[in-house]
Amino acid sequence: MPAIGLGTFGSDHVSADEVATAVKGAIHAGYRHLDCASVYGNEHRIGPAIQQTGIPREQLWITSKLWNDMHSRVIESCRKTLADLKLEQLDMYLVHWPFPNFHPPGCSVDSRSPDASPYIHANFMKTWREMEKLVDLGLTRHIGTSNMTIPKLELLLRDARIKPAVNEMELHPHFQQPELFDYVRANGIEPIGYSPLGSPGRPERDRTPDDTVDVEDPVIVEIAQRLGIQPAAACIKWAVQRGQTPIPFSVKPKNYIANLECLKSEPLSDADMQAIAGIDKRCRLIKGQVFLWKDNQSWEDLWDPDGVIKT
Ligand SMILES: NC(=O)c1ccc[n+]([C@@H]2O[C@H](COP(=O)([O-])OP(=O)(O)OC[C@H]3O[C@@H](n4cnc5c(N)ncnc54)[C@H](OP(=O)(O)O)[C@@H]3O)[C@@H](O)[C@H]2O)c1
Repeated sequence: MPAIGLGTFGSDHVSADEVATAVKGAIHAGYRHLDCASVYGNEHRIGPAIQQTGIPREQLWITSKLWNDMHSRVIESCRKTLADLKLEQLDMYLVHWPFPNFHPPGCSVDSRSPDASPYIHANFMKTWREMEKLVDLGLTRHIGTSNMTIPKLELLLRDARIKPAVNEMELHPHFQQPELFDYVRANGIEPIGYSPLGSPGRPERDRTPDDTVDVEDPVIVEIAQRLGIQPAAACIKWAVQRGQTPIPFSVKPKNYIANLECLKSEPLSDADMQAIAGIDKRCRLIKGQVFLWKDNQSWEDLWDPDGVIKT
């Protein structure tokens, strides 16, 4: 899997066509890894854009994801993504969230689905068995998870015939998730880091007053100024050197080229890596409130903070 990918979630304000144009430009600039998902609503535009680059399929790594309302229709959903992306096979297919409930795209974080339920491992395993079938059918080379916690992964690793190859998780300097990061790596699962710049363009609904801003952190700004790179580049260099795969989103050529090019310059020093390790603020940005299944719950309950799956 290439060490950096291009994110493709337009965060509700960047159109499918703009993202597709960026995909084409990014592939021309040297990107070989795309992070797609059916819920981003743009795979039907990204597919033709990939084709137009003329880059041989085997040189690209393409990930997509199963949306929450399709947990019981895995094969159908994967085939739709393949048709939209104009591919015969994905490199990676992920279960986007471990919760199966439906909520409409762009809904408020206070919206609650009447059919929301906690994580039920037996149900998740039914979905996972279909994910395994996708590999058997040759529709994807690998399968993986996203937004999982250690207790949920423990059950999956115990019961899976085909283990998840990756776990896509929120990772940036202010949210380093050291326990989960170490856990997945110790179990041979690659961590893919989403929102690697601290998602400065995320939708309003995903913002709370307590959120911190990675690219304004004095440690990040000082490193960037000293090395003559953008603060975003400091976040990306840190991510790759730490051992996770960042998937920064951008539709601006200047930005997506800088995000890739920064990996060609001198690596960060050990002292800079240590300094960034010291600025973790445990500040989760993508909290997942819409998955809550009963009243008076906190979003923290979704993330099993006590090491026990909440029911
Ligand atoms: N698995 C999941 O549940 C999940 C959840 C969230 C995200 N993701 C994936 O992760 C990808 C990235 O996450 P994200 O989009 O939330 O956040 P991100 O990559 O941390 O931040 C993207 C924002 O940063 C700006 N940006 C990019 N490069 C920049 C640079 N060099 N200098 C200044 N600003 C820059 C972009 O704006 P411009 O376009 O103006 O450059 C955009 O607004 C998503 O697109 C998606 O593919 C997955």
